[in-house]
Amino acid sequence: MSQYLLAIDQGTTSSRAIIFDAKGVRVGQSQQEFPQHFPNDGWVEHDPNDLWQSTLTVCQNVLKDTGIDADAIASIGITNQRETTVLWDTETGETVYNAIVWQDRRTSQYCQSLVDKEYSELVQSKTGLLIDPYFSATKIRWILENVEGVKERAKLGHIAFGTVDSYLLWKLTNGRYHRTDATNAARTMAFNIHTQKWDEELIELLEIGDVIFPQVMDSSDDFGTIDAQWLGAEIPVNGIAGDQQAALVGQACFSPGMVKSTYGTGCFMILNTGDQPLKSEHKMLTTVGYRINGQVTYALEGSIFVAGAAIQWLRDGLKLFDDAAETQSLAERALNADTVYLVPAFTGLGAPYWDPDARGAMIGLTRDTSVSDIVSAGLRSVCYQTKDLVDAMAQDGAQFSTLRVDGGMVVNNLVVQFLSDVLGITVERPQVTETTALGVAFLAGLRVGMYESLEQISELWQSEQQFNPEMGQDNREKLYSGWLDAVSRVRSVQ
Ligand code: G3P
Repeated sequence: MSQYLLAIDQGTTSSRAIIFDAKGVRVGQSQQEFPQHFPNDGWVEHDPNDLWQSTLTVCQNVLKDTGIDADAIASIGITNQRETTVLWDTETGETVYNAIVWQDRRTSQYCQSLVDKEYSELVQSKTGLLIDPYFSATKIRWILENVEGVKERAKLGHIAFGTVDSYLLWKLTNGRYHRTDATNAARTMAFNIHTQKWDEELIELLEIGDVIFPQVMDSSDDFGTIDAQWLGAEIPVNGIAGDQQAALVGQACFSPGMVKSTYGTGCFMILNTGDQPLKSEHKMLTTVGYRINGQVTYALEGSIFVAGAAIQWLRDGLKLFDDAAETQSLAERALNADTVYLVPAFTGLGAPYWDPDARGAMIGLTRDTSVSDIVSAGLRSVCYQTKDLVDAMAQDGAQFSTLRVDGGMVVNNLVVQFLSDVLGITVERPQVTETTALGVAFLAGLRVGMYESLEQISELWQSEQQFNPEMGQDNREKLYSGWLDAVSRVRSVQ
């Protein structure tokens, strides 16, 4: 009998496959990194073939390593780096350009021209998003405008667009299904989150109407069955969700007011707002949390582009340490942690600043600034940025006293304690910090009847540790005002 769920987590720096049992316990995992391409200032690309091959390899490896037969997999869930844009030719099956990654800023001038023409209100009212290069739509337009022959092929109806989930589904099903889910669609800036349909007016405005858009399904749905040649059995795909929304599910944030923050490459805080989309007046995004049985649960999101990536830069760029695990002990030795700030605006600033032209800086350096101080500043930058989001959400009327956290960085107790200190609220770490993969496994399992309801899934969620604020209000305010000052120095517009 099929008893396991296979979650594919195609992220920004690596692809992972994790097998869970019905209780949500991880029984095996395989991971593979792939190259990043930075062909120009602010440009970030992935080779789509790397995304596909690494995904396939980790799926095959996890089955091999665990000795689990493909027939024992009841269903597959796919979760993915969101917004990243892939275009392919449906006749040849070939992609027409590299995947343009969510972090890529190449369309910032075009986005500014849309803002100047006063389209912000139209875009926000339909999509819940702010006009920014982050989202897929202007990336699609860039490929059509700049890659030779693609516009002509699109006019003939041969060019398909997909976010990474959609591209992987298309590959896994040998081109039989061109589909996505509502959470991924909601990140394109071409999807109307109220009608739950691709928005013709925006698509026309952005001149991307010749491209074929995927069919938008629920996050827990029948997406298609993968071809037996890939894993040795035909397995249905029943869950698809953008990675941050999948984490919302994996953190069992099913009631309005529940909030989670995931610390991967970037950091994304998502607040469940129930069946009502909440329009932000403070530059948060309104988005789809998940869609099940046609019922949309909306969410408010704050997106920070650089979190774990700052630590990666300290390790690989500055070579300050060999392993991220060393950062806790390094930071514990910092003597100037309170006065050194790192603003990791490597690809501009996301929420709540939305400044694609800002660039990073280190502030407060003196002759005795040490590696420990810089590492500490990198870790703390992630917490300060989270405070930016919490404050903006509070201004939008969102009140919460507990934040659930997950992702690679939260294994570091120092970070989580400082986060609680600087936010002044309880921060809760779950037993399973692989919430992204777990969330999409839950969505798949729900569809195939492994779980009866979200309530049943909620019961599987367990807290591992709670962190409560230990810092005084004065100190909190002093540290945070230093951060705000540092940020104000890197912004391209005040
Ligand atoms: O919006 C981008 C986000 O989905 C990327 O997530 O985990 O790859 O940093 P991650």
